[in-house]
Amino acid sequence: MNKVKNTLFSNTPVTLDENSYIMAIETSCDETACAIVQGGRKVIANTVASQIKTHEQYGGVIPEIAAREHLEAINVVIDKTFQDSGLKPEDMSAFAGTVGPGLVGCLLVGLNATKTLALVHDKPFIGVNHLNAHVSANFIDTDLEPPFIALLVSGGHTQLIDVKSYSELEIIGETIDDAVGETYDKVARLIGLPYPGGPKLDKMAHEGNPHAFKLPEAKVGEFDFSFSGLKTAASRLVKSFDGKELPLADICASFQETVSETLIKKVKHALEVKGYKQVVIAGGVAANSEIRRKIFELEKEGYRVNAPIMKYCTDNASMVASSAYFFENTFDDVDVEVFSRC
Ligand code: KG4
Ligand code: ZN
Repeated sequence: MNKVKNTLFSNTPVTLDENSYIMAIETSCDETACAIVQGGRKVIANTVASQIKTHEQYGGVIPEIAAREHLEAINVVIDKTFQDSGLKPEDMSAFAGTVGPGLVGCLLVGLNATKTLALVHDKPFIGVNHLNAHVSANFIDTDLEPPFIALLVSGGHTQLIDVKSYSELEIIGETIDDAVGETYDKVARLIGLPYPGGPKLDKMAHEGNPHAFKLPEAKVGEFDFSFSGLKTAASRLVKSFDGKELPLADICASFQETVSETLIKKVKHALEVKGYKQVVIAGGVAANSEIRRKIFELEKEGYRVNAPIMKYCTDNASMVASSAYFFENTFDDVDVEVFSRC
């Protein structure tokens, strides 16, 4: 993998190869993250400062508070990453930062820090799409190469992506309403689990019967998803107990069964239609135990399956560095503006 990038002032092209170090910064939501990755696959240092404790009390992320916390954490997180790596800014081949989608005020903090580092040290600047970055978490510590199907499941997105090559990613399906992570968090809230409810609901599902309640699977386009009907059905189910004690574990297990079945069916269909032999999952919900279990069952059918280790599923900067290294569709202009939606 060889990529030529231009620096901002001296116009000396920099070639990225497997020895290149990229420092990346990620601040799209409620994690202030910085990392240094070598050759797109080897993590040298990975720092994440999570704001979950701050937002827990509000039951969700408050954008203005999140942006301020990023401002407080960003320099500390960058310094720690350099310290942990034993490397200096001069050792970097490029600086990469998340451009979007995400919370605008939050993205601005990380992107301005990235641009400043690139300008001050006269290194190439690489702007990265947060969703491509999630997919790229699968390159870390593997020898994965396109083509493959990626199932991206996060708090804000649910997409099936055809990764044809390093320069061509096509979204072939997505949710027409709620994202999977959002649905998990809303249903968790409904049954009284604190934010972010996804991981807690996942844990509780292990104690329950996945076939206790029949919940609906949406009928939408070939590769698309819809979860708002499932959310409404879960809400009706909870109300039907009319204040009596809820069979929490059974509700969680039945909900998890419906979501994971829906996702796996679409993944299998995409693999068959595209004729690919490789599939990866990405995004915060890729940490879900049942979705992981079901997708790895595809190995028995001869597919190569990859899922990032847990800490690279949720927001982190190593995946941003990896995306900057591998994917061609990045934003290399230092004038690039942050964006909130795709
Ligand atoms: O990718 P991510 O860290 O942030 C976004 O870009 O959205 O994903 C966060 C989402 C949250 O909705 C969280 O509840 C969900 O991922 N999540 C899970 C699990 N771990 C995290 N959902 C279900 N099961 C899990 N184990
Ligand atoms: Zn994310």
